[in-house]
Parts: sequence; structure tokens; C-alpha cells
Amino acid sequence: MGYSEIYQSCQSDPEGFWMGVADAIDWVEKPSKALFDENAPLYEWFSDGVVNTCYNAVDRHVQAGRGDQVAIIYDSPITGAKDKITYAQLLDMVARLGGALQAKGVEKGDRVVIYMPMVPEALVAMLACSRIGAVHSVVFGGFAANELATRIDDATPKAIIAASCGIEPGRVVAYKPLLDEAINLSAHKPDFTVILQREQQSAEMTEGRDYDWHGVQEGVEPVPCVPVNGNHPVYILYTSGTTGQPKGVVRHTGGHLVALNWTMKNLYNVEPGEVFWAASDVGWVVGHSYICYAPLIHGNTTLVFEGKPIGTPDAGTFWRVISEHDVKVLFTAPTAFRAIKREDPAGVQVGKYDLSCLRALFLAGERADPDTIEWAQNQLGVPVIDHWWQTETGYAMVANPIGIEELPIKLGSPTVPMPGFDVQILDEGGHPMPAGELGAIAVKLPLPPGTLPTLWNAEARYHKSYLEAFPGYYETGDAGYKDEDGYLYIMARTDDVINVAGHRLSTGAMEEVLASHPDVAECAVIGVADSLKGQAPLGFLCLNAGTEKPNNVIEKECVTLLREKIGPVAAFKIACVVDRLPKTRSGKILRGTMVSIADGKPYKMPATIDDPVILTEITAALAGLGYPNAN
Ligand code: COA
Ligand code: AMP
Repeated sequence: MGYSEIYQSCQSDPEGFWMGVADAIDWVEKPSKALFDENAPLYEWFSDGVVNTCYNAVDRHVQAGRGDQVAIIYDSPITGAKDKITYAQLLDMVARLGGALQAKGVEKGDRVVIYMPMVPEALVAMLACSRIGAVHSVVFGGFAANELATRIDDATPKAIIAASCGIEPGRVVAYKPLLDEAINLSAHKPDFTVILQREQQSAEMTEGRDYDWHGVQEGVEPVPCVPVNGNHPVYILYTSGTTGQPKGVVRHTGGHLVALNWTMKNLYNVEPGEVFWAASDVGWVVGHSYICYAPLIHGNTTLVFEGKPIGTPDAGTFWRVISEHDVKVLFTAPTAFRAIKREDPAGVQVGKYDLSCLRALFLAGERADPDTIEWAQNQLGVPVIDHWWQTETGYAMVANPIGIEELPIKLGSPTVPMPGFDVQILDEGGHPMPAGELGAIAVKLPLPPGTLPTLWNAEARYHKSYLEAFPGYYETGDAGYKDEDGYLYIMARTDDVINVAGHRLSTGAMEEVLASHPDVAECAVIGVADSLKGQAPLGFLCLNAGTEKPNNVIEKECVTLLREKIGPVAAFKIACVVDRLPKTRSGKILRGTMVSIADGKPYKMPATIDDPVILTEITAALAGLGYPNAN
């Protein structure tokens, strides 16, 4: 069957389609049905099935006689370390860590926060949690203590698993002091922590609260998998919304297993045993789905890469890793390729390696600009597939399913909807729009298995953020259009979320931090076009009357404050004091107009603008900051 038949078969008989797909999962008890719509518009999948994620990702492959196959390749150009872990070894590691967590009182349903860099132990920690039915919440290492504390308070974990440090080019990032500070800041305190001491920098331990990764496992018996229901949360992953309070995206066990397993062959076209490499971080959804879970559930070999596309040691690192480890499919963010292309435009490094093993490159996380796609296609000689998804959905909503049928690639489009995603372009009133017209991108409910059923501890916010604007639809927060062939084009976000180097960030959260500076009366953060990172944040500050400090001092303090409160990942480098912010007469700040000015795009003078002169002032400020397009 081709793509259209498969998509249509899922549309006309979702129950039959997903029950069939669910057969590829090893259930303790099979679910009686696929969709549970009793609480519509809240939907669940496979709720009454009984299953375990870790069993499907690890144990079943060992039982099938594939224990000697490599499950995880660790390649760390930043430390020089390399390692290979077989499925049999992985089983032992997860069963022991799971046992240690259980021995310290972690039970099914308890939450465990994980704060780790790109080391195989991060995957071991995730799988050990799912083995014992604990719900993990991984926090990206580039976030500051304050962000970690917010997540600790929301997830209320019984335990936290962390490493002593992460390693960034040129510096060791001590994670443990950040963790200690986060625990100090948070109202909720975990019962204990487990710390992986790395040789680059060891951490000071608090007696009675902090346990060494190895020490805590000594003498502990490996434990079996704890069966859970299909609607038991396997993890919570926090993502940026419009405010400083991140959204806790919940992932249910059953749908997650079924959907991710399906994507490995049908979308990425890999067979069990082949090497699949997602060059991302375990702290992001791409890392959850395609570094940890999907490749392992499907019996692939996954690659944990601790490095950067450039500088570790050069722009040839990706090619070295692909050829050395026989990578069949690479998945990364366009930013990584923009960085490589900038450093090695002629592809000199590409020519140094035998890349004949590589079959396809997948890009996601941000808009893939046609220049980058073309460069990658020319250099690698394989299909470069853009696909569109979000933390909320857990896997691609729109893609080119090369395992089913390779559809013609149209530059600038992530191609077509995947089974179960009825993607529509809606006008403000919620009516579907004709081909070629720009509107809000929404997906008809129910969303398919593996997508978010709700937000952790925040059902009302789930309704408000995703379901209210267009009744009967999930609102994605992206805007775009479809062409005559049904190809989708993603053009912009409709909310305050920006995308910096494939990292999703909230300008609202940044504004909250800047507004907390004692001299700042009012502020606005916008995402301006950046040739490397896609977008970069830029903050405008209006100061309190009578402020004595010079503007440049306050600007610097704000940059530091934001790094301290949100973290280096925000890449917030520019704050600029202005007299006034452009607003509508009702007081709404005209952020979109400021973005257009910075990016040199034409804009219409908003009819409701309070004082047009302010736009001239902002234009001058942007030109002063080196935005030459602002004129
Ligand atoms: N722990 C601590 N700090 C981290 C971190 C981590 N896990 N990850 C990033 N940071 C820090 C960086 O050191 C940097 O700090 P600096 O301001 O002191 O230099 C800051 O956060 C921004 O990091 P990054 O976004 O990585 O930018 P960069 O300028 O260091 O590197 C690229 C640029 C293009 C090489 C890099 O952004 C990249 O590899 N992008 C790929 C994106 C990706 O994989 N996205 C995942 C979604 S699919
Ligand atoms: P995240 O939840 O971090 O994965 O970010 C999701 C957001 O990133 C989406 O809502 C889009 O705005 C953007 N995004 C992800 N993939 C793509 C893509 N292929 N093209 C354009 N934007 C994308």
C-alpha cells in the first residue's frame, strides 16, 4: 500500500488501523480497544492494556536472542570517550538502577527528575524509571537552577538523578551546584538524589540525601518490569508556553509505544539492528523519542553523541561519526547544518569520509530553509527530509514517510500529514481555508496515539491552550498553508514562542525575568531572524523614572540576570533601553511589528497604533544595534 491508502485506511477505520499497529508491541494484557473517548474532548489510547515500556525497549530483544546486539553507541568527541552497550548489558544496567530506586522507596507513579548531559546513563535512568512504573521528567542541562526548581515544584519528584557535570566546548558546567541551588529554591524537596560522578568534575555530596550512582546500586538485586496500564504516564516533559510557567506535557505508555515503534520503519525506513542517530539532546522531545525510546523499542542501535556539529573538533565530526558507526539515518535540527555549512561551505570535510552507509537525513525542530536543504542534498547525496512536529505530539505530524513511499520533496514543505493527523488550516472563525491561504494550523480531534492527553496538574490550562480556540480541534500554535497537492508549509508561530537553534523558548518567560530587574518598568522580548540559530531573542527595556544607573549597565545586568534565571540555552545576548514601546491604543505591545522592522520585512502600520512615532524610535534603536535591515 502507498501513503494515500495507508493514510485513508487510518482515517476511515482508526480503531482497526491502530489495533493492527499495536500488535507490534508486547503487551502483558492486550487492550480491549484503541480509542477511549468517554471524556472527550480529552482522549486516551489503549488505556486498559497492560504493558511496560522498558520491557519493550530492552527485555524483549534480549529474550528474542539479540542480547549481543549493540543497543547504545556512546561517542563523545568532547571528552574522547567511546563505548558500546549491548542489549544484554543494558538490561542489567536498567534492572539494577531500577532496583536501587525501588529499594529507596520509589514506587509506580512516583516522579523522578533527571538532569543529565549526553551520556548513556541518561538513557539508563529514563529506562530504569519506566521499568518500575516511575514517571520521569528530564530537564535539559542548559537550563538554570531557577527553571529546574520550577519543574521540581510542578512534578514533585521523590528522587532526582543527575550527573556531577556536563561538558560544553571550553568549559565544564557543574550540574551539581545548580541542582543544589534548585533544591534550595523549590518548595518541594526530593527524598534523595542519585549522582553520577564524572571524572571531569566530581560533585560534593550531602550526606543522607545524595547517593553515588554506583554506590546506590551495590548489592541491589536486578528487578523485573512493573506492568502498568496503557494510560499510565511514562514521562512528563516540560516545554515553553506563553508564560514563565512551563507546560508539563504528559505522555501515556501505550500510545507512546505503539506510535513510536510504527514510525521507525514507516517514516524513517530503518530495520531492527540498524544504527539510527538523532543528534539532539535527551532534554528535548527529539531526544526522548528518537535517542531513547523509538530506536530501542524497535530494536535498533541508538547513538548518544556528546558534542557539537562544529568545534568538537571540527565541522567533520558528524561525517566521522556516520562513517565510523555505520549510521543509516541521521536526524538533527537545521541549525546544526547551518553551522556546518558556514564553517565548511565547500564540503571539504564531507569528502574525507565514506558516507555510503547513510540513506537519509531528517530535519526538524525549526523551519528548514531551502538553502540548507539544498546544500545538505548536494553534499550528502541522500534525500533530505524536513518533518514537522512538537513536544506535545511526540513524533511527526507532517512528514515524508520514506518507509512507505518516498513522496516528491518540495523545498520548504515538510510534506504531508501522517496517519491519524487530520491537519487543517483554519481562519479566525475556525473554518477550513482554501489551498494557498495562510491560517492557523489545527489538527482535528482526536489526536492519534502517543500525543499528549493533557498537561500535568493543569487540565484547565490544557483546554485553554489547545482546545478552546477551535472547538473540535487541537491548536498547534503554528500558522501556515497547504498547497494544491495537500503539502503543508509552516510559516510562523501564532504565540509568544520562539525557536533558537531548534530550542523552544518563551519570550513571555524572558519578559517576566527582565521585568523583575528593579530598574525596569516595562519590557518586550522579540525573536529576530538569525542566520545561524534561526531566531535570536532581543529585549527592549523601558526604565523607571529617576533611574540613576547608566543604560549600558542595566542592559548588561539584564543579560546576566536572564542567563542566571533561564539559562545559557536562551542565548539572550542583547538588551536595549528605549524610551517607549510601540503599543495599540488598548495597550497591547506591537511585538510582531518590531520583528518585521528588525528583519527588514514590509509591515502595515497597525490601524490601532497609539503613537506611530515610537516605531521610528524603535527602528533607530534596531539600526543602532546593527540590524541593517531596519530602516
Ligand atoms: N548544558 C549546559 N549548557 C549548555 C547546554 C547543556 N546541555 N547546551 C547548550 N548550553 C549552552 C552553551 O554552552 C551556550 O553557552 P554560551 O552562551 O556560554 O556559549 C548556550 O547554552 C547556547 O548553546 P547552543 O544553542 O548550543 O549554541 P552554541 O552557540 O553553543 O552552538 C550550534 C551553536 C549551532 C552548534 C548549536 O546550537 C547546535 O548544535 N545546534 C543543534 C540544535 C539541536 O540539536 N537542537 C535540538 C532540537 S532537535
Ligand atoms: P518543540 O516542541 O521544541 O519541538 O517545538 C515545536 C515547534 O517548533 C513547532 O510548533 C514549530 O513552531 C517548530 N517546528 C518544529 N519542526 C518544524 C519544521 N519542520 N518546520 C518548521 N517549524 C518547525
